[in-house]
Amino acid sequence: MLWVKAFHVVFMVTWFAGLFYLPRLFVYHALAEDEIGKARFKVMERKLYYGIMTPGAIMTVALGLWLWLGYGIGGGWMHAKAVLVGVLIAYHIWCGALLADFEHDRNRHGHVFYRWFNEVPVVFLIAIVLLVELKPF
Ligand code: HEM
Repeated sequence: MLWVKAFHVVFMVTWFAGLFYLPRLFVYHALAEDEIGKARFKVMERKLYYGIMTPGAIMTVALGLWLWLGYGIGGGWMHAKAVLVGVLIAYHIWCGALLADFEHDRNRHGHVFYRWFNEVPVVFLIAIVLLVELKPF
C-alpha cells in the first residue's frame, strides 16, 4: 500500500507541474505576435498536455482509486476530496479545450484572463492536501 501511495504522490506532482505551467504558457502565448514564437508555444503546450499532464492525471486518479476502493482507505474527507478532484479534472479538460483554440489560432482570451486562470489549481492543491493530511471529518 505504501508503494501505491508513494507513486500516487509522484504522479500527482507530475500532474500539478503541468497544471501550473500550461496556463503560464497560455499567458505568454496570448501575448506572442510573431509566427515562430506562436509555433513554438504550440509544440510546448501539446507536449506538456499530452506527454506529461494527462498521463500524470490518469495515473494519479488510478492509484488514488486503488487506495480508496482497493485498500478501503476513506471517510467523509475522501468524499469531499473526490468532489474537488472531479472539478480539477473538469479544469484539466478545459485546459485541453483552450489548447485546441490556440492550436487553431482562435484564442479568445487575453493574458490577464490566463493569469487568473493560472491561480485556480493552487486553491485545489491546498484544499486537497489539507483534506488528506488533516482528515477533518
Ligand atoms: C480520484 C482521485 C483520487 C483518489 C481516489 C485519491 C485517494 C487517496 C487515498 C485513499 C489516499 C490515502 C490516504 C491515507 O493513507 O490516509 C490518498 C493519499 C494522498 N493523496 Fe490522493 N486521491 C486522488 C487524487 C489526488 C489528488 C488530485 C491529489 C493532489 C492534489 C492527491 C493528493 C494526495 C496526497 C498528498 C496524499 C497523502 C499521501 C501521504 O501523505 O501519505 N490525491 N489519496
